[in-house]
Amino acid sequence: MARYLITGIAGFIGSTLAHALVKQGHEVAGIDNLSTGSLDNLADIRHQISFEQMDLQDVAGVKSACGGIDFILHQGAVASVPRSVKDPLGSHESNVNGTLNLLIAARDAKVRRIVYAASSSAYGDQPTQPKQEDMPPLPLSPYAVQKLTCEYYIQSFFLAYGLEGICLRYFNIFGPRQAADSPYSGVIAQFTYKMMARETPTIFGDGLTSRDFNYVDNAVSANLQACLAPSAVATGRVFNIGTGKSHTLNEVYFAIAGHLGFTGKPNYGPPREGDIKHSLADINRATKELGYQPKAGFHEGLGKTVAWYLAEREKSPVAVVQR
Ligand code: NAD
Ligand code: UD1
Repeated sequence: MARYLITGIAGFIGSTLAHALVKQGHEVAGIDNLSTGSLDNLADIRHQISFEQMDLQDVAGVKSACGGIDFILHQGAVASVPRSVKDPLGSHESNVNGTLNLLIAARDAKVRRIVYAASSSAYGDQPTQPKQEDMPPLPLSPYAVQKLTCEYYIQSFFLAYGLEGICLRYFNIFGPRQAADSPYSGVIAQFTYKMMARETPTIFGDGLTSRDFNYVDNAVSANLQACLAPSAVATGRVFNIGTGKSHTLNEVYFAIAGHLGFTGKPNYGPPREGDIKHSLADINRATKELGYQPKAGFHEGLGKTVAWYLAEREKSPVAVVQR
């Protein structure tokens, strides 16, 4: 049994990690400022974890949260590209200043390893597909710059202080518990939520924009494998966490519509600022060095995801609307 600290534990990926670790019998502590996360995501394990509402920039609080921790799974961030375009300073404070504060606390507390939720947005719009980790980065949005900056901080904390770190460049993660009700929510969550309400979602651009959509259980496995990987790979190195397959927004739209029996044709709007056109992962490095395998495919994951949103609506129609 190990002691884990999950930042952003009340968010989509953080709460899914917490459920997996509790199930395996680990000790789980978490912090979150509840800016986009919700304690509803932790309701069924709330008594099995310790949680503190805290901002990543809280120097004393984060220092105390790192005491006695073996592994940090660092998910806390303002996770939206368009939100960073709208508020670059605010997202920088959470994403970069918060991470630096966490790294200093982790170093001082002699945490064994930090696993960081990095982003495929670091690659930008380079035409070469699939994206490989050794390509030069080309961040387009403030968010992408922030996520990449933290990779460099993690590498520097290994070089300067010996703090072990692994950066998992998630491609688009989707699944149960992803917030659906904000214009900044992920596309699969938004489309599902709107179609359930019999509203027609808008596809930004021509519908041919594509992403390597990866079901959340695959990201959870990658985090757990990253904690167990030999020290030689925990030197601040970067790993793509995708599936190696991509789907266009048109495909996503009609797949969700099929699950929900929604017959409306999509609205098309202008492309979104800061957007990347295509994104596809080469996952060979993670497969070879972490033992990562994306077991859940897109269609299986999508089926489970849509079923989850439907079940949530059944449980509490109002809560689903308000989250
Ligand atoms: P999310 O918004 O559901 O979770 C982020 C959590 O961090 C939220 O609970 C939020 O309240 C919390 N948070 C934000 N700022 C904070 C701060 N300053 N202090 C404390 N807590 C703070 O998003 P998610 O999709 O679960 O993303 C988790 C991580 O994965 C993020 O770091 C994101 O950048 C990264 N990521 C996500 C994806 C994806 O497709 N979802 C892809 C690549 C990388
Ligand atoms: C997502 C993540 C980001 C992560 C990145 C890594 C979220 C909210 N964002 O960014 O944290 O670092 O993947 O790959 O999880 N779209 C529409 N209509 C909508 C909403 C979105 O057409 O109503 C389009 C967007 O313009 C974009 C695509 O869908 O082209 C995906 O958007 P989104 O889900 O926001 O994800 P990314 O911006 O790729």
